[in-house]
Amino acid sequence: MKENYYFDNAATSWPKPEPVYQFMDAFFRSHGVNPGRAGHQLAAEAEIMISQTRRLLADFFGYGGDAKRVVFSLNATDSLNAALYGLVDPGDHMVITRLEHNSVLRPANHLERDNGVSVSRIGRDGSGYVDPEDIRRAMTPKTRAVVVNHGSNVLGAVQDLKAIGAIVRESNAVLVVDSCQTAGVLPIEMDDWGIDVLVFTGHKGLFGPMGIGGMIVAEGIDMRAPRAGGTGVDSISPYQPDDYPFHLEAGTPSLPGIAGLNAAQHWFADLGRQQLGPKAAGDASHRDLCRAALDHIYGVEMDHTQRLIKTFESIDNVLVYGPRGNQPRVATLCINIDGLPADEAGAMLDADHGICVRAGLHCAPLVHEDEGTVGVKGTIRFSPGYFTDEEDIEQVIEAVTEISEFVAGRKAAAAR
Ligand SMILES: Cc1ncc(COP(=O)(O)O)c(C=O)c1O
Repeated sequence: MKENYYFDNAATSWPKPEPVYQFMDAFFRSHGVNPGRAGHQLAAEAEIMISQTRRLLADFFGYGGDAKRVVFSLNATDSLNAALYGLVDPGDHMVITRLEHNSVLRPANHLERDNGVSVSRIGRDGSGYVDPEDIRRAMTPKTRAVVVNHGSNVLGAVQDLKAIGAIVRESNAVLVVDSCQTAGVLPIEMDDWGIDVLVFTGHKGLFGPMGIGGMIVAEGIDMRAPRAGGTGVDSISPYQPDDYPFHLEAGTPSLPGIAGLNAAQHWFADLGRQQLGPKAAGDASHRDLCRAALDHIYGVEMDHTQRLIKTFESIDNVLVYGPRGNQPRVATLCINIDGLPADEAGAMLDADHGICVRAGLHCAPLVHEDEGTVGVKGTIRFSPGYFTDEEDIEQVIEAVTEISEFVAGRKAAAAR
């Protein structure tokens, strides 16, 4: 029996692949210096690791441009704020969806309230899919940015970015994508899909640690620097350099965080090599190896998710939200148990069954307004991951069955 059954991978993936822990520890010990800036050998080697990580991530996300456009930050929130404030001016218009996380909703709300920006918030269907044509209809000649959450962190629905990208490409607007729930799970084709700014967080599907994230800003996209400060280059200049990545990276970067992402990229490639076998893997690119790894990871996660959906649907008083069958989705799955407040259910799962879930609004309040789940304090979110096993799944099935029987029994007793 385990001490914890972890179903909160949508919040952060845990555990990480073993090489991530090992390389972070080893690299921080051997090269834990301020990269690039000092010019000594150790600093130069640390900088080489960082540059290599930019290249690996560019390949991973299907970005063929200069890897210097891969810009590191604290997390997705940091990059989304930088992108939104850096792209949109007073008088501009923005399109976002009602599926967005507060890391988009709140900056958009502030831009609207404080900076004279107008914002359209696009709805979605009952499963969680935005109609790309609704985005087209909402756009105006003043639309500067269209911001789309690729995979919902509540419903799990995955949007058709290719179709959305084709629409945005016909205008002068910039397509900003929040890949928090899909990066490391589904292939993302930044160039092919017409994504101008791809925001990622390091600590979820990318299997890095907390405190590292970033974005890829396609060449030709002009973004104001979110802050100014030391870059280790062109120090005589009174202003932030225009060159990337320095334009958007001020201050000492998270070397251990980037080392974690670097190790995770190699782990994806190794997993892909195992999937393809030595012959096919022989001259495969990093991107192709990672693609094979993602297919495998996604398959594992979907097996868990579909099994949970099937079981939950068979329990009378359990309500399952989001996509069904083979509608495009990620492994984020929300339920409620017959009016039981989500936080109470979460506490029962934790205290009585050792199951770690996220219960609440998941920082996506508009999704709950639309689902009518604000009154029960949101939903109970199960997010299995690549390292979830059979024992975890059985524990959840047993626990949810038990809680639903308890709730049904309590209701019957109250009715007598
Ligand atoms: C869809 C989505 N967007 C943005 C974020 C914010 O990520 P971070 O907290 O790493 O900045 C999250 C994390 O929960 C998320 O799920």
